[in-house]
Amino acid sequence: MNLLTPPANCTFEPDDWLRLARCWQRLCDVGPAPMKAVLLDEQLVIYRINQQIVVAKDVCPYRGVPLTLGFHDEHGIICPYHGLRFGEDGRCNRIPSSPDQPVPAKLNLISFPVELVWVCLAPDVDDPAELPAMPHWVDDGFQQITCPPFDVAGLAGRQVEGFLDVAHFAWVHSKTFADASNQQVPPYNPVETPNGFAVDY
Ligand code: FES
Repeated sequence: MNLLTPPANCTFEPDDWLRLARCWQRLCDVGPAPMKAVLLDEQLVIYRINQQIVVAKDVCPYRGVPLTLGFHDEHGIICPYHGLRFGEDGRCNRIPSSPDQPVPAKLNLISFPVELVWVCLAPDVDDPAELPAMPHWVDDGFQQITCPPFDVAGLAGRQVEGFLDVAHFAWVHSKTFADASNQQVPPYNPVETPNGFAVDY
């Protein structure tokens, strides 16, 4: 079951968007203040509350104001328009104009599953996507590099090809990580995994 459809002004083909939205995507580090992120054209607010990270649509459910324009206290993030406050699980926990009324459930944020900073926008409850395995991320023998996001004016397939096509390393990347004299590609064997293929090179 998909909980979400592509956002307004989405620049992806709808089918592409849904395919990508079912996968886990890596976001960023998070504090208690409302922080903005855009994932697959979806505007998101991210905050940390009591060790829990919440990722939700950046829309106050009351009058639609972006929550990233707001601020926070120790109990959650606060919408700047009427002061509604949202805490754990994106639940509204304060309506300043009616403090004695029970908070209606429809005032909760539309939030998404998140693992540390991995987010899945359209979880399929019947066939949940697995988090990508990254066994070397905590391996001291490997260097961990977090690249900043950047726009590529080209097809996604070409971008993927650039990562897989190791024969260009000696020619294009000799000023950074590659060795210009090491031009030959030794044989290597792709291994099928639950999410695709893995290759050691
Ligand atoms: S629009 Fe968010 S509290 Fe009014």
